[in-house]
Amino acid sequence: MARLALLLLALLPAFAQQDEHFKQAGVCGRCHVISVVEWSISSHAKGAADCLACHGKSEGHIIDERNNIKPDKIPHDAAIAGLCADCHKNGCPKTKQTASCQKCHHVHALVNPERPPQVKDQVLEQRAASWERYSRRMEEGERLLKAEHFAQARDAFRAALKENPNDKQAAERLQLCENRLRTGWPGFEIVKERGFCSRTGLPREVRVPALGIRMALVSGGEFEMGSDRFPVSKPRHTVRVAPVYLAVHETTQAEWTALMGKNPSAHQGEKFPEAARLPVEQVSWDDAQAIIRVVNQKVPGAGFRLPTEAEWELAARRGEGSPEPGNLKAPRPVGQGRPDKLGLFDLQGNVWEWCSSLSAPYPYDAADGRESPAAQGMRVLRGGGYADLGDLLDPAMRHAERAGRRLQWNGIRLARGVPQ
Ligand code: HEC
Ligand code: HEC
Ligand code: HEC
Ligand code: HEC
Repeated sequence: MARLALLLLALLPAFAQQDEHFKQAGVCGRCHVISVVEWSISSHAKGAADCLACHGKSEGHIIDERNNIKPDKIPHDAAIAGLCADCHKNGCPKTKQTASCQKCHHVHALVNPERPPQVKDQVLEQRAASWERYSRRMEEGERLLKAEHFAQARDAFRAALKENPNDKQAAERLQLCENRLRTGWPGFEIVKERGFCSRTGLPREVRVPALGIRMALVSGGEFEMGSDRFPVSKPRHTVRVAPVYLAVHETTQAEWTALMGKNPSAHQGEKFPEAARLPVEQVSWDDAQAIIRVVNQKVPGAGFRLPTEAEWELAARRGEGSPEPGNLKAPRPVGQGRPDKLGLFDLQGNVWEWCSSLSAPYPYDAADGRESPAAQGMRVLRGGGYADLGDLLDPAMRHAERAGRRLQWNGIRLARGVPQ
């Protein structure tokens, strides 16, 4: 950022001549003045590689001024090279690099950082020095992290964050170290063989001894929620989700009976010898709240709940499961077939899974009241069931029912945030 500030200061005299470039940038220039200035000094402006060439028409983004709906294309990190390759097919003509373009070129201003513009200014110099200290601390932290010296790495990232308090990267690395140093996980037992998430430092899989179930980590982050293929799932928009654990199986009839003393499922009795391992169904959203109250009395640390639909969809997208079509007649025992990449079974298919969310139009916003248990209205179900095919199993598909309704294809999967 210090470099960018230096650059912009050097450019101010050129500001008056920007009219032409603002015209070229079109509607984007209305809100993104600095981006237009950055871009306009590069050959990209001359070469007609404008905002739309790299970010797409971004119609939804322009309509929604709150930035809930992101531009069509906004690659980050390693994905940036792919965007650059659209036009620079052989990579960097000067250095022959084919990746990490943004390490040397600013994606808009495209300056050579080995030759930054020269300006004398005390405040800027202080900021540049602070940037240097930040960079050194970050490098030191990464080195220590690689060697698994978590306590020392934590100190380095903490020092980096002090230099640059809004830096997301430093905050994320610090949290990673704190998670790896942590010893107590109320209600959870770490499954050591599955290791730790390299971004968050959280255990990838845990056991919940009080319930006899396992849960897998959905490590959170930003993702594109929704799909323009289904009217209920429009528009696609970016949502940020905190890390969450999901039960690897849908809750079974045996688990439900053990906690609630009765079994509401339609598929039980002589015709279903494996009923104990079948997912519980014919449960309403209200019934789900009742079992969750019982679970939270039983497990130290409590915090169990249904997943939000954003958490559910992120899990389905990250897990990349390939749902097997159901038999159209009855659910199957949990844990059959192959787990998805996160270790979850039957996220798509078997039974529909109640989510905590009230059914409300997108963009999804957890703060708008839709996650309130007291709110009245239809609640969302996700994932499709044994009687469904095709699009109904899509990660973006949404379905809703009244909170009191009990149907023989609707069940649940437990969720829990990272215990404190
Ligand atoms: C009506 C105002 C407005 C218009 C017009 C607009 N944007 Fe934005 N854009 C925003 C806001 C607000 C943000 C969020 C800014 C922030 O967080 O600093 C944003 C963020 C972005 C981001 C960063 C997204 C992210 O969250 O990482 C990109 C890229 C972007 N806009 C590109 C464009 C392009 C390309 C156009 C023209 C096609 C455009 N914008 C037109 C308001 C607008
Ligand atoms: C050469 C391709 C390219 C062009 C042309 C381009 N962008 Fe970007 N832009 C990117 C990439 C790649 C990123 C993401 C960088 C990151 O965050 O990792 C980005 C990020 C952004 C951001 C968010 C980060 C920031 O710097 O604020 C905004 C806003 C933005 N672009 C607006 C625009 C506007 C407005 C235009 C036209 C004036 C434009 N971009 C032209 C490639 C481009
Ligand atoms: C839509 C096509 C397009 C995309 C995408 C694109 N470029 Fe370019 N780029 C061009 C054109 C056209 C020129 C100008 C060539 C000329 O002047 O001969 C150019 C010039 C450049 C230059 C020379 C800049 C200068 O000011 O001398 C650099 C560096 C560069 N691009 C880097 C990138 C990087 C990095 C990306 C990815 C973030 C990227 N380009 C994406 C079309 C593109
Ligand atoms: C290790 C640093 C580095 C990386 C990584 C890098 N470049 Fe470059 N690139 C340079 C330097 C240095 C120049 C020369 C800049 C100058 O002379 O001002 C340059 C020049 C360019 C030019 C202009 C060439 C010309 O004819 O003037 C383009 C286009 C370009 N790079 C594209 C890319 C693309 C695309 C990527 C990613 C695939 C990339 N670069 C990655 C350092 C890098």
